[in-house]
Amino acid sequence: MSGVIGVLTAGGDCPGLNAVIRAVVSRATEHHDAEVVGVLNGWEGLMDGRTRPLDRDDVRGILQRGGTILGTSRKDPYVHGDGFDSVRGTIERNGIDSLIVIGGDGTLRTALRLSEDGLQVVGVPKTIDNDIAATDYTFGFDTALSIATDAVDRIATTAESHNRIMLVEVMGRTKGWIATYAAIAGGADALLIPEVPYDLDGIAGMIKKRHRRGRTYSVVVVAEGVPPPAGLEVNRSIDAFGFERLGGVAYQIAPELEQRTGFETRVTVLGHLQRGGTPTAFDRVLGTRFGAAAVDLAIAGETRVMVAVRGDKMTAIPLGEACESIRGVDPDLYDLAATFFN
Ligand code: F6P
Repeated sequence: MSGVIGVLTAGGDCPGLNAVIRAVVSRATEHHDAEVVGVLNGWEGLMDGRTRPLDRDDVRGILQRGGTILGTSRKDPYVHGDGFDSVRGTIERNGIDSLIVIGGDGTLRTALRLSEDGLQVVGVPKTIDNDIAATDYTFGFDTALSIATDAVDRIATTAESHNRIMLVEVMGRTKGWIATYAAIAGGADALLIPEVPYDLDGIAGMIKKRHRRGRTYSVVVVAEGVPPPAGLEVNRSIDAFGFERLGGVAYQIAPELEQRTGFETRVTVLGHLQRGGTPTAFDRVLGTRFGAAAVDLAIAGETRVMVAVRGDKMTAIPLGEACESIRGVDPDLYDLAATFFN
């Protein structure tokens, strides 16, 4: 027997979380003869002592399932508790030697603080936004992208019948990865992402020119994190990690485009549809690789590290470095998408 590994999922859910959990449990129990304790509902469960033992049988049949069998929350021990002191009891009662934390940048920053306070921690990056700088990809992104691309394809056929402008708003809190990939994959006619300031007069002019040249519709992909048009306010609430709750900026942009172009404009906000349902094969494989690599690091006694994929190789990055920066869309990729805006 080589120790007890705790595992939790925190922050927003993401397709592929169950693939990670399954890999953590199987790798730990079958390969390393370790035990696994699942912590329920993210940091909240670690504070309240809600855990369950997990063995290989508990994770059979979950690879294809969206969401997380452990549950998640946006509670944080440093915001809603006394930091390390509020999780110490659960760690000690369960004999947890090492904790695998699966989460986005907010969750990983909390994991870093706990590791600085003495907990052995290995992080697994998770977000559909694909904006964690230390890893080339996060699982969940590919699934969200497929859903967004399918939406753009579907919107295009109804748009075509009506001579309309259609805005498709996708997730992407501060970076426009899903938007840019979906725009390229779906052949969108314009793209608004937080990394690139937008000019509504320029977009309206391009759309009018397009329609004069015989196009009967335009599809515009909008990342939820773009600012509202100049002069318009948004009143957004803040979650436990200090992030703004987004969604709906396309409703502010649409009337501006309609007024500038004279074309009827409609909005579709994809929202949490992008986080639901079965993960793609890519995300299942990436999640499985992350989960197994995290266990190997935990068993080797590593702490304050995060698993990452660079090129085709798994690697470990210091958590401090991993939390330092998020990554925006490469300007070359944006320019590629823009090649087709005409
Ligand atoms: O960070 C991932 C993400 O899906 C963002 O794209 C989105 O803005 C946010 O989470 C939504 O969070 P919630 O589920 O709390 O509404």
